Amino acid sequence: MEGPADDASAPERSRLFLPSLLDGQVAIVTGAGSGLGRETALELARCGARVTICGRRAEPLEETVALDPHGLIEAHVCDIREEDQVQRLVDVVIGRNSKIDLLVNNAGGQFLAPAESITPKGFRTVIRLNVEGTWLMTHAVATKAMIPSGRGGKVFSVTLSPHNGMPGMAHSGAARAAVENLMRTLAIEWARFDVKLLALAAGQFETQTLMSKYPQAIVDQIAHTIPLGRLGSEREWAEMVAYLASSAGDFFSGTVITMDGARDDWLGPWPPPQATDEEGRPLSEERREPVRPSPDSGAQAPQV
Ligand SMILES: NC(=O)c1ccc[n+]([C@@H]2O[C@H](COP(=O)([O-])OP(=O)(O)OC[C@H]3O[C@@H](n4cnc5c(N)ncnc54)[C@H](OP(=O)(O)O)[C@@H]3O)[C@@H](O)[C@H]2O)c1
Repeated sequence: MEGPADDASAPERSRLFLPSLLDGQVAIVTGAGSGLGRETALELARCGARVTICGRRAEPLEETVALDPHGLIEAHVCDIREEDQVQRLVDVVIGRNSKIDLLVNNAGGQFLAPAESITPKGFRTVIRLNVEGTWLMTHAVATKAMIPSGRGGKVFSVTLSPHNGMPGMAHSGAARAAVENLMRTLAIEWARFDVKLLALAAGQFETQTLMSKYPQAIVDQIAHTIPLGRLGSEREWAEMVAYLASSAGDFFSGTVITMDGARDDWLGPWPPPQATDEEGRPLSEERREPVRPSPDSGAQAPQV
């Protein structure tokens, strides 16, 4: 099954939105030197937002800047785990733009490993990046820009689907659950400042990282684990972020928005292959005589 094709023929324009949708908005997107973050930054810029992107390495960030024909994206090297770097990034963005309307906490990651082999250091590393990094960015942007300006703003934090357990990623599952609760809690506390916060839970998306980092046997099977039968595209993800950043998203806060082709609800296609009739249709209820084994005869006798 194929999803909507990415519109490579017109990468400078949004497939869905007017170029003025986010005119005048100032955004930060973390981890935008690749994958979902890069496409998010590009889509926000296609819609007129001024976007500062960050990551630890300058080169991928510059590649994202070069893909933006509108000149609306600026790059700033920043490790979101380092408090001083985060403070500096936020100061720079405020210094240049006088405000911040949107923060997309996209930077994150983990490594695939059975729980019994995750060391304390490995666990701490994943928690530090995904939870503490998200907290540092969110707190700095809110306290330096969104709250004192009296204008409020939006914070979106990328998390993971499925939610009912993350075998092979115990550290990241725990981290993303923490981030989802953080977004819910801050949405209550900071509603009085008109700061809206969401967790955006990503299922499996066809990013370079996902396609190249995980074992091929797992990558080959992913589409079969998703009820819609395919991975998500970076562009679909970025369009959701732009929509939520627009005024259409102004009443969303304190919740988790999941984009995962129904993976949160079910593993694989429906009907499952072993529960179909001869034509491959889902089995329906049928009324028949229950058959129970008789202890005397060993034969199966019908019962009412
Ligand atoms: N792809 C999927 O299917 C999927 C599914 C669920 C969730 N997600 C989540 O969605 C987000 C983006 O995923 P992706 O697939 O696009 O991954 P990606 O291409 O690996 O992007 C992650 C980005 O984060 C940056 N980064 C990592 N550590 C950082 C740090 N300490 N400070 C600042 N930036 C940092 C990386 O750049 P540097 O290395 O230069 O810092 C990189 O550009 C991640 O949080 C990921 O876990 C992805």
